Amino acid sequence: MQVFSLSSPILVTCGLPYANGPCHLGHLRTYVPADIFVRGMRRMGKEVLFVCGSDAHGTPIVVNAEAKGMTPKELVAKYHSHFDEVFRGMGVNFDFFGDTDDPACHNRTQEMVRALMEKGYVYPKEIELAYCPKCERFLPDRYVEGECPYCGKPARGDECDQGCGRHLEPGEIKNAVCKICGGKADYRTQTHYFFRLSQFKEFLLEYLKTLGGTASARNYALEWVRQELKDWCITRNMSWGVKFPGHNDLVVYVWVDAPIGYIAFTEEWCARKNADWQKYWKDDAKIIHFIGGDIVYHHCIFWPAMLKGAGYTLPSAVVASGMLKIDDKKFSKSRGNVIWVKDDYLDRGLHPDLLRYYLASYTSHNKEVNFSWKIFAEKVNTELVGAFGNFLNRALTFTAKNFDGRVPDGDVDAEVAARIKQTLKEVRSSIEEYEFKKAADSIMALADYGNIYFQSREPWKLIKVDKEKAGVVLKNCLQIAKALVVLMQPFMPSKMEEAWRQLGLDGRADDIAFDEALVILRSGQPLGKPEILFQRMEEAAVKDLDSIFKERIREAESKERVKSVEKKGMISFDEFQALDLRVGEIKEAGRIKGSDKLLKLDVDIGGETRQVVAGIAGAYECEDLVGMQVVVLTNLEPAKLFGVESQAMLLAADVAGKAVLLRPSERVETGTRVR
Ligand code: MF3
Ligand code: ZN
Repeated sequence: MQVFSLSSPILVTCGLPYANGPCHLGHLRTYVPADIFVRGMRRMGKEVLFVCGSDAHGTPIVVNAEAKGMTPKELVAKYHSHFDEVFRGMGVNFDFFGDTDDPACHNRTQEMVRALMEKGYVYPKEIELAYCPKCERFLPDRYVEGECPYCGKPARGDECDQGCGRHLEPGEIKNAVCKICGGKADYRTQTHYFFRLSQFKEFLLEYLKTLGGTASARNYALEWVRQELKDWCITRNMSWGVKFPGHNDLVVYVWVDAPIGYIAFTEEWCARKNADWQKYWKDDAKIIHFIGGDIVYHHCIFWPAMLKGAGYTLPSAVVASGMLKIDDKKFSKSRGNVIWVKDDYLDRGLHPDLLRYYLASYTSHNKEVNFSWKIFAEKVNTELVGAFGNFLNRALTFTAKNFDGRVPDGDVDAEVAARIKQTLKEVRSSIEEYEFKKAADSIMALADYGNIYFQSREPWKLIKVDKEKAGVVLKNCLQIAKALVVLMQPFMPSKMEEAWRQLGLDGRADDIAFDEALVILRSGQPLGKPEILFQRMEEAAVKDLDSIFKERIREAESKERVKSVEKKGMISFDEFQALDLRVGEIKEAGRIKGSDKLLKLDVDIGGETRQVVAGIAGAYECEDLVGMQVVVLTNLEPAKLFGVESQAMLLAADVAGKAVLLRPSERVETGTRVR
């Protein structure tokens, strides 16, 4: 019963992931709610096109490809298919998932840049740019590091990432150093092209007032526009990217061609379907961008100005998602505070719908979401298993057992019908307002209502005295169950498909309109086989998942430590404290077969004896060693030497390859700590 409205078509896009690394939980914070929105709109009878694709250009991709010994094209292809696979795995179903290196994107970008040039919105200007004399090249964006001209902190060519956070324009960075050779860069003059963003101030002030989506995005952008709009350098010295028209040595800045991908992907989809892309980008369409909260500036300022200048349809809403935290800490790949969607989630056999539900229902879309495996398990166990799944299963199994697996006779109570109607209304308006948590909460409240209804009517008692009355209770429960499945479909599409089959209903839940929730189940209709929809997350499983995550953080920390030691050439006092050094006493010493360098020692380190393999055979006789006090590093990872395990290390001075053991200058209690 899908109804299509005749009103303007809706185009939904998601910020394009850089094809530069695997998909992590932070990505999903944008894509999952966008998918829920699209499904919700379709359940409300709207015609929606949903596109996304890989962001293929920009210096990080070139730098990363070089480091991996791949071409940028190969790197992009690798992560493009990765994202495609992960999105499918998560039930995020784009109608088209393209790539900004597609010819369609090159063509559309050049067309738009030409249009902007013809209208006088693009002009050339000579600027001083970082240039590496050794590498004989200009250094765009990530190819250069130096100091932020605003706050003086270390910064990258395009962004003050460690200081004030400003976007830096080409040529702005001070004390430039080449990232390729590490040498000092100088500054040379070159002609670049600028977009007259400053001319769009009045337009943007008006436009932003009417922009839909999350208020946070709108207000943030308005604040920037009110302050200052500088013209924007839109060319770069690179070969990977979309050529700037008429200049073979320049490409457009990645933030020019990336959003143009939205148009190109629409074109590509339309070409396949024999449809007209212009109805989305030249006529009265509703364009809705879902993005991460960190790219509001690009979508609310650069992008509408470009569209306006080149004569395209303006976005009607920008929906910005709040950031993701893990275990209440800021998400960070370098710190290991990251959860990879494929390796850590999908490949471990966890069901995509559980995570979809978590991400959409944890907080309002524009707020920060905190993820932890513990909360994940709690949400699954109480909300999905305990409330939603439990209700469905009780209604279905009771009917299977007592009513021959068919919907019993009887009317739906006015109160139950009203309750369903109310939920339907709430879900519709919440989804239209991008309030996904509110929608999920309304559905869960209906599940709670269902459980209370079942509990208070006591059909298990009623069945013994009045089967007909018990039947009416079950009919009501099944109707609530149907409504739950229909309304929850956008959140958990694959689980609700299973539930739909258990209810014995025709077709696919994915094609059913929300209004179907009110259509009364036909008495006598056979139900499917009831099965448990959601499995409990056991504590052991949660512990396993959590320990994988914690281990990654530990690894990243130790890598950081090594890096910082390399950088400073020093260690901190804390790092020194991590060494467990103690005075030990050698109790036994013997040779190791096959080696004339190594001795096997038993060393008492204070109530505990460690076996130590030491390379001191040439310097000491075994009998001289017994009874000697030495300094022992006790928390070194065990290692095997000549097949013998060494569980600690003795400290010695290295005198031209000959070991001279360190000993306390007077006898101390064995086990005394060395500091
Ligand atoms: N790749 C960008 C990022 O991850 C987003 C590009 S969105 C688009 O921050 F609008 F430019 F397409
Ligand atoms: Zn700065």
